[in-house]
Amino acid sequence: MSRTLFVTTALPYANGPIHIGHVMEYIQADIWVRFQRMQGHRVHFIGADDAHGAPIMLKAEAEGITPQQLVARIAAGRPQYLHGFHLSFDHWYTTDSPENTQLSQDVYRRLKEAGLISSRPIEQFYDPVKGMFLADRYIKGECPNCHAKDQYADACEVCSIVNAPTDLIHPYSSLTGAVPVLKQSDHLFFRLSDPRCLEFLKGWIDTPGRLQPQVANKAREWLGSGGGIELGDWDISRDAPYFGIPVPDAPGKYFYVWLDAPLGYLAALQNYFTSGKARTNGETRSYQEFITAPQTEQIHFIGKDIIYFHTLFWPAMLRFAGPPYKVPDNVYVHGFITVSGEKMSKSRGTGLSPLRYLDLGMDPEWLRYYIAAKLNGNVEDIDFSPDDFLARVNSDLVGKYINIASRCAGFVTARFGGRLKDVTPPTEIGEHPSQAHVTLRSVAEASGRIRGHYEAREFGKALREIMLLADLANQYINVNRPWDLVKTSSQSDLEAAHETCSVALNIFRLLTLYLKPVLPELATKVEAFLALRKPLSWDDADVLLPEGHAIGRYQHLMTRVDSKQLDALFAIEPSSASPSPAAPPTISIDEFKRIDLRVARIAGAERVEGADKLLRLTLDLGGETRTVFAGIKSSYEPAALVGKLTVMVANLAPRKMKFGVSEGMVLAASGSGPGIYLLSPDSGAAPGMKVS
Ligand code: 2FM
Ligand code: ZN
Repeated sequence: MSRTLFVTTALPYANGPIHIGHVMEYIQADIWVRFQRMQGHRVHFIGADDAHGAPIMLKAEAEGITPQQLVARIAAGRPQYLHGFHLSFDHWYTTDSPENTQLSQDVYRRLKEAGLISSRPIEQFYDPVKGMFLADRYIKGECPNCHAKDQYADACEVCSIVNAPTDLIHPYSSLTGAVPVLKQSDHLFFRLSDPRCLEFLKGWIDTPGRLQPQVANKAREWLGSGGGIELGDWDISRDAPYFGIPVPDAPGKYFYVWLDAPLGYLAALQNYFTSGKARTNGETRSYQEFITAPQTEQIHFIGKDIIYFHTLFWPAMLRFAGPPYKVPDNVYVHGFITVSGEKMSKSRGTGLSPLRYLDLGMDPEWLRYYIAAKLNGNVEDIDFSPDDFLARVNSDLVGKYINIASRCAGFVTARFGGRLKDVTPPTEIGEHPSQAHVTLRSVAEASGRIRGHYEAREFGKALREIMLLADLANQYINVNRPWDLVKTSSQSDLEAAHETCSVALNIFRLLTLYLKPVLPELATKVEAFLALRKPLSWDDADVLLPEGHAIGRYQHLMTRVDSKQLDALFAIEPSSASPSPAAPPTISIDEFKRIDLRVARIAGAERVEGADKLLRLTLDLGGETRTVFAGIKSSYEPAALVGKLTVMVANLAPRKMKFGVSEGMVLAASGSGPGIYLLSPDSGAAPGMKVS
């Protein structure tokens, strides 16, 4: 029976580019989606940017633009990744949209009507300079346990203890350096602790086949049914200033970004319908009809760090908002990707830059293949290892699979008029099957198993099975040696060569079909080369190419990875061209890198007796303290500098000055006018961080 699937991937925050972790998730979902399409199922594959929240608001502010401008700029950068890695999203939208405003406010009203919204005052740190409440990640201070300075509340980097922000000694706002004050404000809560919610969630989580066992266990633990802590109410409001969707009946309050983000899945779907794209994709129903249809399956692909939101808050929101809202059918969770064993940071995406990968002209299908080969249906982390990547692509994909066609196609064209021989196995019972037929049958019969692996997201298993079949095909070709047979003038040898090549190309066609969800572009090239009448779909596994089928001329299908490409991919920086003598005085990247620029917190600032221009600054480099004399007295009151973050040259040779030794230099901008402006890093930077 044909299925209708609404598939999403987690919505990336619109404050940075797509990193390798995102690419892995999109590739995983895309392979699954393409596989489902090949089964004849109708899939609507939807993505969007997650536009709201304080970090986006603050980043825009730091850049002197509106959050909307920032989000638009980030969105403009998405297609190069999506097209670059052949990700077949049907639509990409944003959570900062009229649809999402309507949906979020509607769900809120419905939850309120259901008696599941409550309001109570909470006390929270407030930055009096910035005039805003501070999320925990913007508060730093001294760890009460080990006394390490500049620690975040959630986990001390030195002793690992988890502190409440109010436990920190000398807390300060990492945004302004100001001492935060405790202030009360009313917040709105989604009452997840209500017995109705708990009961519903238990049932939803326990539904067989809905969640991977590891994920269901985790969700059960959070739910408290395993003797853990009972699920608490969820704080869904934030006070202005906040970039988000206004709470309809509470002026000055906005929905917390995690309330509107998942509704962004539905908002994007709705926009996909109203923009007419769904119709182009064969969907004749309206959005309302589609989303309420019992047969519509809603499936989310996400990473393991956001299970909590997707298996507790999100289904509960949908369930208690009531019809037409419907709960998700499946949430498929994957692990993280490490690069050469190194953990990725969520915001930075270390190690492997997807954009550099594409810019270097590396084949996106190499990466699709490699990631697929590593993925399974569990929540395990996977590692990108350059050596392993090179081996798998070159030895398996090119060396085994492509090799089948490149060894045989030329003979068919040169010696057999470009036409294939009939390779249909004998139907007579008792007739002894030839090696050709046994091989062909093994490949054709694997179709069901490979389909099962794809369905279960066991892509590694699918590819292992496909590569074993490629081995089988190569052994068959090796034994039959068509290159020798075509050299003779014996008719039977020529026929044998023709049969070998025809069997091999039939196998190649089947393997291409099996690989098509992973390698869509390559499959298109093969479809052209084999002159297939229509694009390969899964049913084609049951049929062979007919007697006399004319193939096209074999053209190079895929190159091997060159280790130099991997060197370039992981080079610290692309090497810069050497300047010509007439060029302006540029410096090389290596010369630039000799300057050790660091984020520093101004721990103290004072006037210097007898100096007209200088202030003596005490700079905290995250553990180390430096004294620096800076010529900024005309522009700054010393007291106003304390707590501020700035950037310093940390490896400047100490200079003996009239008033003492200066151990570095702070960076400041000045023009022809009188002002001097200290540089300061974007919010989130911490003392000691390297600037590059
Ligand atoms: O963790 C994240 O990157 C979030 N932006 C994911 C949101 S997924 C969905 F709920 F929108
Ligand atoms: Zn500590």
